[in-house]
Amino acid sequence: MPELDGKRVFVTGSGAGIGKAIAALFTQRGARVVVSDLNADSAKQSAAEIGAAGVANCDVTDESQVQAAVAQAVEQLGGLDVLVNNAGIEVSSPLLQQSTESFDKIFAVNVRGTFVTMKAATPHLMESKGNIVNISSIAGVGGSPLLGSYCATKAAVIQLTRVAAVEMRAAGIRVNAVCPGFADTAMVDRLVPDFEAATQVPFADLVAQKQGRLGTPEDIAEVAAFLASDRASWVTGSHYVLDGGLSA
Ligand code: NAI
Repeated sequence: MPELDGKRVFVTGSGAGIGKAIAALFTQRGARVVVSDLNADSAKQSAAEIGAAGVANCDVTDESQVQAAVAQAVEQLGGLDVLVNNAGIEVSSPLLQQSTESFDKIFAVNVRGTFVTMKAATPHLMESKGNIVNISSIAGVGGSPLLGSYCATKAAVIQLTRVAAVEMRAAGIRVNAVCPGFADTAMVDRLVPDFEAATQVPFADLVAQKQGRLGTPEDIAEVAAFLASDRASWVTGSHYVLDGGLSA
């Protein structure tokens, strides 16, 4: 039987990159997935390519949009077994030169977005004894120059994961996080020029030296699939590092 047979799944930020790979792999493994993104065009395209069960878009910074999208997904799926909080943004800036507006924005997407989506999904996950996979980052475990506010948001995602896992254990809901190193997506493409300017080292060399190769979105989807599956029934409150040894 496929690993995620019959699981009803909602993935934020799944119009592109890692979220799209998660939606695709989960679908291949037997799940019924509702795709969601800020960008309605990419969500529509992603859902068509993947053969997703539906689309329910939201901007994760807007709580009423999140509640409406989760309700729409639940209606399309007939319930909810898995929430994947993947939507996220990056900012590259020396920490103390970053504008306060930009600092607030990255927290609104990466932290508040994760929080409000977990809240909206929880009543449904209580019914199904489901689980949550939050996409954090290796930046949530160790500090990185130029990624100060991003590191802080991703550390916050790990802490939200831990506390929610403990608080919801009695309700039968598992909550885990995934902490990838640099992966081959548009987000990393956007970071390359600033990293190369700061280090004077070609980004490809930096990646080869620190983590062997770039991660693929599928590398991350594999770990997310395990955590979402019943094979991980005793795994909760964890954050899984997958970074080619970057942080070893
Ligand atoms: P990406 O930029 O390629 O894709 C992100 C998707 O999220 C886009 O489709 C975008 O439209 C959507 N999105 C952005 N803001 C949103 C909002 N407010 N509401 C709803 N959707 C929104 O990024 P990527 O690389 O696929 O990243 C996905 C997640 O993985 C993020 O949380 C990121 O922080 C995390 N991550 C990425 C790594 C990488 O190396 N690419 C490494 C570690 C973690």
